[in-house]
Amino acid sequence: MDIFGSPEPFEVDLGCGDGGFLLQMAAHFPERRFLGIERLLGRVRGVCTQAEKEELQNVRVLRIESSYFLEWFLEPGSISRLHYLCPDPWPKTRHHKNRLIQDSLMPVLHTALANEGEFLFKTDHEEYYEWVLDHIERSGLFSRLSWEEDAFFYPKTDFQLHWEGMGKTIYRARFVKKM
Ligand SMILES: C[S@@+](CC[C@H](N)C(=O)[O-])C[C@H]1O[C@@H](n2cnc3c(N)ncnc32)[C@H](O)[C@@H]1O
Repeated sequence: MDIFGSPEPFEVDLGCGDGGFLLQMAAHFPERRFLGIERLLGRVRGVCTQAEKEELQNVRVLRIESSYFLEWFLEPGSISRLHYLCPDPWPKTRHHKNRLIQDSLMPVLHTALANEGEFLFKTDHEEYYEWVLDHIERSGLFSRLSWEEDAFFYPKTDFQLHWEGMGKTIYRARFVKKM
């Protein structure tokens, strides 16, 4: 998919919601390109409107399912950083099949990431956090990196701010593609 008109890897925000994180990143790093993935049309429109208002040239939003996008829309090695922030954890056991992170997604994710590409994940849901760690480790395709708070510019998402306001803990993990 040639969305930015040049082959350099770009950053992806999966389930970008209202775009608080995506737009701040795009404004902070004008030299990088950012793609938001979101299935709700109203949210896609809202993010695009705000990006236009802020005259951000380096951000795009696609209305599409995250897993379909990762599997079918990308040239191998397209993504420099994949942000998967505060997703719906699908907490009920019978709904676990709806979680994005599954064993079958691991090679897809590995292929989509560029060399030294990173996968960054945050959640307020401890069990989904453990689920993601288990799946990543079991795949053998990624190494975990340290991620201290404020180690680099990384704005809180709208959902993170909301959940922290309710006193919830946010778990985070950062991985790099193994070569
Ligand atoms: C809990 S919200 C988090 C939004 C944002 N990342 C944040 O932290 O503020 C999850 C978002 O992902 C979107 N979403 C959920 N499942 C999706 C999927 N399979 N494909 C694309 N977007 C999805 C939802 O519509 C929603 O906007």
